[in-house]
Amino acid sequence: MFDLSGKTALVTGGGRGLGLEMAKALAAAGAWTVINGRNGQGLEEARKRLQGDGIEIGIAAGDITRDAPAIIAAAVEKTGGLDILIHAVGERDRRGTEAMEPHEFAALLNTDLTAAYAVAKTALPYLRRSVAGRLIFVTSIAALAARAGDPAYTAAKGGLAALTRSLAVELGADNLTVNAIAPGWFATETNAHLAADPALKAFVDIRIPLKRWGRPEEIAPAAVFLASPAASFVNGITLTVDGGMTVQM
Ligand SMILES: NC(=O)c1ccc[n+]([C@@H]2O[C@H](COP(=O)([O-])OP(=O)(O)OC[C@H]3O[C@@H](n4cnc5c(N)ncnc54)[C@H](OP(=O)(O)O)[C@@H]3O)[C@@H](O)[C@H]2O)c1
Repeated sequence: MFDLSGKTALVTGGGRGLGLEMAKALAAAGAWTVINGRNGQGLEEARKRLQGDGIEIGIAAGDITRDAPAIIAAAVEKTGGLDILIHAVGERDRRGTEAMEPHEFAALLNTDLTAAYAVAKTALPYLRRSVAGRLIFVTSIAALAARAGDPAYTAAKGGLAALTRSLAVELGADNLTVNAIAPGWFATETNAHLAADPALKAFVDIRIPLKRWGRPEEIAPAAVFLASPAASFVNGITLTVDGGMTVQM
C-alpha cells in the first residue's frame, strides 16, 4: 500500500531540511524522485550523500518562485512524467506588524503562497496525465494557531491550507488529490540554534506533549502516506505532524 515503484516525483525545496527527508523517503519507497532548490551545488552534495546510502535521485536547480515552468519541465524530462509533486519551499520573516511594511508582507506571501499556486498550475497538465496524481503542499502549524510577531508567514500558511482545500475540490474529478502536511517544530539545520536554546527547551516541555522537537526524518512517513495508494481516498486534508502541540489546551 505504501509502495511507490514506477512513480515519478518532484520535491521543491528538496535539497535540505524537511524537503530532503521527504524526497529521500519517496525515493526509498520506489519513486524516481527529483529534488529542486536554488543552490545547485547543495543539491549535488545531497544527491551524492543519498547515492552513498544506495538511493538514486535527480536534481533540477532553480528558483521555483520565478522559474517553475522550466524546473518542472526539467524534472519531467529526467523522470518521464510527474505523479507526485511535493511543494516544500517556504520562507519565514518573523518581523511583527510594527516593523513589516505592506510590500514586505506581500513579498513573503508571494514566496509562500502565490508561488505554490503557480507551481500547482504549471504542474497540472503533467499531474492530470498520471493515473493517480498527488499534489502535496507543506504548510505549518502556523496555519492553525498563531505566535505573536509573525503575521506574514501565518497568513501565507493559512492561505496555503485554504488553497489545498480549494484545489482538492476543483481537481478531484481529474483523479488527482491535493493535500497538505503541517509540520510542528522540527530540529532541522535551519532551526538548530533554536533547538539548542535552553529558554525554548522549557517552552517545548510545556507546549509539546511529546516534550521534544521533531526529528527531521519524522516528517517523511506523512509524505509517503499521502503520495501512496494507501491515501487514494484522502483529499483536501492538512495532516498535522507536531507531537500533539496544536491539540493541547
Ligand atoms: N522546520 C520546521 O520546523 C517547519 C515547521 C513548520 C513548517 N515548515 C515548513 O516546511 C518547509 C520546509 O522547511 P525547512 O525547515 O525544511 O526549510 P529549510 O531547511 O530552510 O529548507 C528550505 C529548502 O527550500 C529551498 N528553497 C528556498 N527557497 C527556494 C526557492 N525560491 N526556490 C527553490 N528552492 C528554494 C532551500 O534551498 P536553496 O536555499 O538552495 O534554494 C532549501 O532546500 C517550509 O515550507 C516550512 O515553512 C517547517
